[in-house]
Amino acid sequence: MIEPKRHTVTAALPYANGPLHLGHVAGAYLPADIYVRNLRQRGKDVLFVCGSDEHGAAITIKALKEGTTPQAVVDKYHAMLRDAFVGLGIRFDIYHRTSSDLHKRTSQEFFLELQRKGVFIEKEEEQYFDEKAGQFLADRYIIGTCPNCGNDKAYGDQCENCGSALSPSELIDPKSTLSGTTPIRRPTKHWYLPMDRHQAMMEEWINTGMRHGVRQHDPKEWKPQVLGQCNSWLKEGLRPRAMTRDLDWGVPVPLPDAKGKVLYVWLDAPIGYISATKQWAVDNGQDWEPWWKADDTRLVHFIGKDNIVFHCIIFPMLLELHGGFQLPQNVPANEFLNLEGRKLSTSRNWAVWIHEYLERWPERQDELRYCLTTILPEFRDSEFTWKDFQEKNNNELVAILGNFVQRVFVLCEKFYDRQAPKAGTGTQQDVSLWSSIHAELEAMVEHVDDFRFREALSAAMNVARAGNKYLTDTEPWKLQKSDPDRTATVLLNGLNVAAVLSVVLEPFLPFTAAKLRRMLGIGELDWENAFRTDLIGPGRELGRPEHLFKPITDAEIQPEIDRLMATMQDNNEKPSTASASAAVTIKPTIEFDDFAKLDLRVGTIVSAERVPKADKLLKLLVDMGEAAPRTVVSGIAEHFAPEELAGQQVVLVANLAPRKMRGVESQGMVLMAEDAAGKLRFVRPAEAMPPGAGVR
Ligand code: 2FM
Ligand code: ZN
Repeated sequence: MIEPKRHTVTAALPYANGPLHLGHVAGAYLPADIYVRNLRQRGKDVLFVCGSDEHGAAITIKALKEGTTPQAVVDKYHAMLRDAFVGLGIRFDIYHRTSSDLHKRTSQEFFLELQRKGVFIEKEEEQYFDEKAGQFLADRYIIGTCPNCGNDKAYGDQCENCGSALSPSELIDPKSTLSGTTPIRRPTKHWYLPMDRHQAMMEEWINTGMRHGVRQHDPKEWKPQVLGQCNSWLKEGLRPRAMTRDLDWGVPVPLPDAKGKVLYVWLDAPIGYISATKQWAVDNGQDWEPWWKADDTRLVHFIGKDNIVFHCIIFPMLLELHGGFQLPQNVPANEFLNLEGRKLSTSRNWAVWIHEYLERWPERQDELRYCLTTILPEFRDSEFTWKDFQEKNNNELVAILGNFVQRVFVLCEKFYDRQAPKAGTGTQQDVSLWSSIHAELEAMVEHVDDFRFREALSAAMNVARAGNKYLTDTEPWKLQKSDPDRTATVLLNGLNVAAVLSVVLEPFLPFTAAKLRRMLGIGELDWENAFRTDLIGPGRELGRPEHLFKPITDAEIQPEIDRLMATMQDNNEKPSTASASAAVTIKPTIEFDDFAKLDLRVGTIVSAERVPKADKLLKLLVDMGEAAPRTVVSGIAEHFAPEELAGQQVVLVANLAPRKMRGVESQGMVLMAEDAAGKLRFVRPAEAMPPGAGVR
């Protein structure tokens, strides 16, 4: 493989039919931004392009819904998307739009070149037509049941549930999304890409990395789920796919006999990456062609899993058939992000919208970037919850990163009046500090190159952890009187670890990295500098100690949870899927006599303690109004801290045969409610009752 000289990095062009949400960010944009920022630090020549996808049924259907024009829709959402990216520090070289003239020209020329080369098959065929709306139905204009997974809301071009690409004729029980009616069939002419003819070429390229006899990528570097999706598509056999549509919104097909037809949005959209590059070149006095054509260019597409087939099969096939273009060397697609146990859904408003987040949490961009990076759905679906966001902020950003920097700066202010001290001689402890940090730096770069950004962030945070450990081991706050020389050495090292952090955090937490640089009085440094141990020299003026992060309180996080609960109510949904699923898995019926055998009693917990060598068990003493409290062993240690339990009332099965657990005899069982996620809560009387009160 050729050593790359430049990197063209694309992030999926979002449809300009709605605002940006968490799922988009975690799917493509945040990993792409981290990747690009780190490549730039490492001195690589990178071009990072994106823009709004402004064509296709996604836009026209939205215009119908909002009672406005497609142009008004794309103007509104293009601006919102662009601003949301800027707000979150996703820094493209260009954020373009596919409604631009340059894009129209670029995609028409691309189409014409394919037509000149005889790539398309022109075919008149019957297609679904909505008589009521007077329109042919393709893509999102038609929904039905997916033949692969049974999802009854699959679109005419794609099932968003299983990611497979479809054609309207494959849908079971198709319906028009315009009128809800069952469509009829009518003949119409289209330009088809005979994908079946190029199957062998695509199979070879994807699975061996070979193209024109040269190894172009290593399939082992592709994510297994990406290869898996490509291969399941290939296994089914590629089929011809129309590259034109009967619509009045889109790039007109540049042929005399194609009046009223536009390019298929999935032809036009990825060409948007090329037209964005051209616009960037015009704006910056550069040549666009090497970024797409030179064989020492490395092209990487960041996308979500629903875009895999388009970026790994259809677009590369088009680039190949057009000729002159490089194909992607990797397509590190992410899986989906769920929100509080449910799939993100624009139509059900089950989302956290970035523009709203930025309004409600101003100055907290990095907190969101951090939390999302720790849960990126890199290999499987993952989940965002507001509690996790709060905990990661409080327990990691505040307690590890913020705490380290704060301690160093406060001590430097106290001991040296905010001037970096002069170091004495180093010790083995200092050598170990730096060698562990250097190992983390190397790991971080490797993880970035492997598109494992969760692990890369963990390596970066380990630098702060190493700094904290160093401070805890050396205790400079105690040393100043007895050993001022050692204190100075430790704190100068601390300042230098903070300087290294300002480099390693830049890809993940760019706002924090900038703040840290201001505190240290340094500019942006490239990656090589992260290996230096003397970035901050003695005598350097330091800024005031500032908190990099603030704890997030329950009172701050609750409104976010309440907002989602309100959405659920608007949607007539139950707060937990657990209740629904429990309702259908009721145990077999029992007689009243069976129930009457249970002696259920109210008890009050007197004390609670952990059971040694048992992670899950707590030993409770429960007052049941008997001569002495009962001992009850309960598997709730992962859900409650022992100290929060004394005084709480519970309901106990009081006549359960005693049972020994880890050597402790349990004389009853506490009743718990459990949701689908395994969260446990006590079942207890709504008002306090005397211990021993019966429950029936
Ligand atoms: O799925 C989507 O949101 C598409 N708009 C992505 C297009 S990516 C590229 F091909 F432009
Ligand atoms: Zn499906």
